[in-house]
Amino acid sequence: MCYKYAVGIPEMLQTSLAGLDLCNPVIAAAGTCGYVDALADAMPLSSIGAITTKSITREPRPGSAPWRIIPARAGMLNAIGLANMGVARFLAEEAPKVRGCGTHVIASVAGHTIDDYVAVASAVDSCGAFRAIELNVSCPNTSTGRHFGADPATLREVLAAVRPAVTHCALFVKLAPDMVDPVAMADAAIASGANALTLCNTMPAMAIDVATRQPRLSRRQGGLSGPAIHPIVVRIVHDVYARVARTAGVPIIAIGGVFSWEDAAEFILAGATGVGMGTALFVDPASPMRVVRGLARWARAQQVTSISQLVGQVTQ
Ligand SMILES: Cc1cc2nc3c(=O)[nH]c(=O)nc-3n(C[C@H](O)[C@H](O)[C@H](O)COP(=O)(O)O)c2cc1C
Repeated sequence: MCYKYAVGIPEMLQTSLAGLDLCNPVIAAAGTCGYVDALADAMPLSSIGAITTKSITREPRPGSAPWRIIPARAGMLNAIGLANMGVARFLAEEAPKVRGCGTHVIASVAGHTIDDYVAVASAVDSCGAFRAIELNVSCPNTSTGRHFGADPATLREVLAAVRPAVTHCALFVKLAPDMVDPVAMADAAIASGANALTLCNTMPAMAIDVATRQPRLSRRQGGLSGPAIHPIVVRIVHDVYARVARTAGVPIIAIGGVFSWEDAAEFILAGATGVGMGTALFVDPASPMRVVRGLARWARAQQVTSISQLVGQVTQ
């Protein structure tokens, strides 16, 4: 199904992301908008390009004990711990909602072992409801969450197993913001068959209550998201686009602290085709519509006929 002609959205915002025709570049980020239709109470889902599900694992997970979300000065810290219903229930109860929800749904997949990634990705791929799978190899909130995205060799290993198991869906790979060499990681993902790169997950972080001397999150540490990480991700997107993704023709979804259309526009100029919003949804779940409208005004002011003409167009 093609959602690129969503009602009321200027055609100039249409974009193509690894074979998916999006009505605009704005995408709700994994873990911040439920499974499929949780945002529908706040806005028509057809007003954004896509939504991403909570990361799904092989078995259900209760996640971490409270506190698992706390505010930070310029964002928030979370240690949700991949709480989710597990793949069997997800396919039975949530996948049927995808058709007719009004936008593309990207299924986020996580695991503790390579076998887990393969099992969940192939089950999601073969159910027929999804057009894209996002492999979360960068979650800071479980014991193994970051292992498979820790270095290029391990990333290649997990993709060597998952890529052949995903035959219907496009395969996106979601990386961390604290990679030593983001370009080498992106290169490894692309060489191993990634159809798009999602940059980035949350930044490992910690907060301490000085009265009790206790870490403020039950898991002690968590992931920082929101405006604090935005400039970090702008740099990563810029470098990955300029040094590997542009030449390879592999699109980037940039995620990190997008609250306004200016934040989204900055990501697009750095090299992003899609722009994710996560923390902003906790402040105003309808904020993606504001960003979409702002992007349309910006694209017109930049005198382009398509937003895609602005991808990577930061002055060199
Ligand atoms: C409460 C919360 C839960 C999240 N859960 C997931 C998840 O299940 N899978 C995933 O890939 N990313 C998850 N993320 C990371 C977001 O998708 C996003 O990459 C990150 O928050 C940065 O974007 P933002 O600054 O717009 O929030 C979560 C983020 C938050 C704040």
